Amino acid sequence: MNLSGKKALITGGNSGIGFGIAQELSKAAATGFIVGRNSETLESAQKTLNEDFQSIECDVTDNEQLKSLFEKLEQRGGKLDVLVVNAGGAIGPGSIQPFEAFDEESHDKMVALNLRSVFFTVQKALPYLNEGASVILIASIAVHKGFPGMSVYAACKAGVRSLARTLSVELMHRGIRVNVVSPGTIDTPVFNRLGISDEEAEQAKQQFVDLIPMGRIGKPKDIGAAVCFLASDESSFMVGEEIIVDGGVVNL
Ligand code: NAI
Repeated sequence: MNLSGKKALITGGNSGIGFGIAQELSKAAATGFIVGRNSETLESAQKTLNEDFQSIECDVTDNEQLKSLFEKLEQRGGKLDVLVVNAGGAIGPGSIQPFEAFDEESHDKMVALNLRSVFFTVQKALPYLNEGASVILIASIAVHKGFPGMSVYAACKAGVRSLARTLSVELMHRGIRVNVVSPGTIDTPVFNRLGISDEEAEQAKQQFVDLIPMGRIGKPKDIGAAVCFLASDESSFMVGEEIIVDGGVVNL
């Protein structure tokens, strides 16, 4: 895939899937920005990408920070062809809880990260997107299958899937395409961000891996490859669509 000449921004591009996406985009000769909260991991991630990738610190749940993110981006060299809204997942302890026990504070933090921030990241980015830009939202196979403890997460991701359809219609006049990539279980630090021990995190991961017909866990670059396709002009007739990358969990 040749993405030479395309400028991309990836939220959460300093870890896990987002980092894998940034690496694949960088290999395909795209340039641009990775965004995250942790300056150390941002810096180390940036060093592995091509020299035309820069990093910007931003908490995507804070709309003021989102606004200043895109202002900084404009100062540093212009508009985007590719926006990957990937930041999301766990908020620490409380991310996964039985429905009957889910507490309000964790619920609201999960929604703030996994749905609200997606909505406002795209909204605040709009003035900085080129005509014909590709917006790619990272959802999850939790959109399609019930997993215990993930009521709030799955509802947020279903909202993200839905958002891609409405935004596609509303942004059609600017030639902007909005599509979704829904990963299955991918090997990332997310399992260690659930406020459980390393051993419990490994067990939780294994339970998900046991469900995968292909018999292996996904890698961040598996998601990066799908994102590169949606970022490219090769996918120019795809809009409001979803690519599921899960080793067969949903469909087999
Ligand atoms: P991760 O925990 O490794 O990465 C999450 C990224 O989001 C990190 O870069 C983190 O800095 C960033 N982030 C979190 N809160 C943020 C905030 N308030 N402001 C700015 N950045 C913030 O997790 P992973 O697994 O790479 O997840 C990435 C996306 O993929 C998430 O949207 C997650 O829901 C989704 N996903 C992951 C799956 C998996 O098995 N790992 C499966 C399905 C979906």
